[in-house]
Amino acid sequence: MRQITDISQLKEAIRQYQSEGKSIGFVPTMGFLHEGHLTLADKARQENDVVVMSIFVNPAQFGPNEDFEAYPRDIERDAALAENAGVDILFTPDAHDMYPGKKNVTIHVERRTGVLCGRSREGHFDGVAIVLTKLFNLVQPTRAYFGLKDAQQVAVVDGLISDFFMDIELVAVDTVREEDGLAKSSRNVYLTAEERKEAPKLYRALQTSAELIRAGERDPEAVIKAAKEIIDTTSGTIDYVELYSYPELEPVNKIEGKIILAVAVAFSKARLIDNIIIDIREMERI
Ligand code: PAF
Repeated sequence: MRQITDISQLKEAIRQYQSEGKSIGFVPTMGFLHEGHLTLADKARQENDVVVMSIFVNPAQFGPNEDFEAYPRDIERDAALAENAGVDILFTPDAHDMYPGKKNVTIHVERRTGVLCGRSREGHFDGVAIVLTKLFNLVQPTRAYFGLKDAQQVAVVDGLISDFFMDIELVAVDTVREEDGLAKSSRNVYLTAEERKEAPKLYRALQTSAELIRAGERDPEAVIKAAKEIIDTTSGTIDYVELYSYPELEPVNKIEGKIILAVAVAFSKARLIDNIIIDIREMERI
């Protein structure tokens, strides 16, 4: 594995791969790698000739009250994990190279951002779209890998790629779960022992709602209510339980097409998110 910090060196390496006709799988991250990232790298490894992973804590996607400085960083540990996962190039640019001087052009994400976590994180997805546009231009990936744990980010990236005619295949990878169904997250360690026992109820709530839909329920309110009833039996506080079309993230009066049911629940020291995406058309074909 090569670790590259310098932008021109990265461009040179990418040019070399392209001249050899190699497909490039790209896994953008902010580091502090966990199993979710490694699953993305694994999939990229299987589907491409080479794998590029970036580690860049992107200042543009942090709000004024979100602690950019305190974001966990451990590049040595990450480099060892990335190498083990079969990454060929680990790109670790400096902030002043990614954001040199005053910007001439910006990107504002118009849709898919005013709901779910985006509602309380103004400007966050603009920052994500800006850095990904830069990274995509540098890496020129054949395929880019994102986890569906953050399904809203996947929806925004889908919009970015299609609006700007980017020749990139977006690969959305299923959420990695503990045996009891809890979505894996670095935040799970902040749960108390009691909360950790309750936390799998988030996924249980989503599954119960999915069962209702499978049984023919098409009223979003009924499905949301069923999920809330289960989450209400935990000590967590519901931030949202919402259902939208996916990936458009528009409200729906009737469940049809592809939808997402997403939850965010605050426990004493950890706010957990989870979701399921259901394609009703596939369900009806079974
Ligand atoms: O999901 C993340 O870690 C970040 O939002 C991403 C996609 C690497 C952009 O900075």
